[in-house]
Amino acid sequence: MPRVIAPSMLSADFGNLDRDCRMVNRSVAGWFHLDVMDGIFVPNISFGFPVCKAIARVAQKPLDAHLMIIEPWTYVERFAQLGVQYLSFHYEACNDRRLKSTIRLVRDCGMGVGVAINPETPAENLIPWLRMLDYVVVMGVHPGYSGQKYIPETTEKVGVLAEMIAAQGADCFIEVDGGVSTANIAELERLGAGVFVAGSAAFSAANPIAAIKALKTAK
Ligand code: DX5
Ligand code: ZN
Repeated sequence: MPRVIAPSMLSADFGNLDRDCRMVNRSVAGWFHLDVMDGIFVPNISFGFPVCKAIARVAQKPLDAHLMIIEPWTYVERFAQLGVQYLSFHYEACNDRRLKSTIRLVRDCGMGVGVAINPETPAENLIPWLRMLDYVVVMGVHPGYSGQKYIPETTEKVGVLAEMIAAQGADCFIEVDGGVSTANIAELERLGAGVFVAGSAAFSAANPIAAIKALKTAK
């Protein structure tokens, strides 16, 4: 797949959300990434439906919601109603039964379904699920905050996962979330990742449009 940059709206300026959404529309970004946190699954609270709705109203590109919440199945339908196209939830928030039923629910609601794994969760845990998924989100940081340092072991994990996906002939792409920068994006892509979430690398730059372009073209 062509490299997709998904700016994380968690790093946007919420006082200028409309402006920042329009910036993403004008940029070479492929998707909007929405980080939803509940203060329980992760030690931070971000935003919920009203903010997602405000973004959805302006966004002219697919919305990729990343639920860092407990009991994610409870809210799947509401994200679908907002017009979210891709929805990921955490492996660590589910037992096997819930994982299976939530994957089905997301798919039945018409969205692409992804499962995210924390840095300490081995890629191998996803072996039984890969054929049911549209994507896997490999966390490059501990979920909860943007602007953290990239965990270098993530790179190898992406390679392992790509091999597992190929071995199963699964139709599943890899998204890397957290700590993505022009310094690691090309290597992650070479190993098999296709979608790259960018929080601080996009929004902390003086010129976010140029920063997103730099991520898109970095070699
Ligand atoms: C972390 C979030 C990420 C994060 C990315 O909990 O899922 O999407 O905001 O931010 P950066 O790119 O700054 O690591
Ligand atoms: Zn995220």
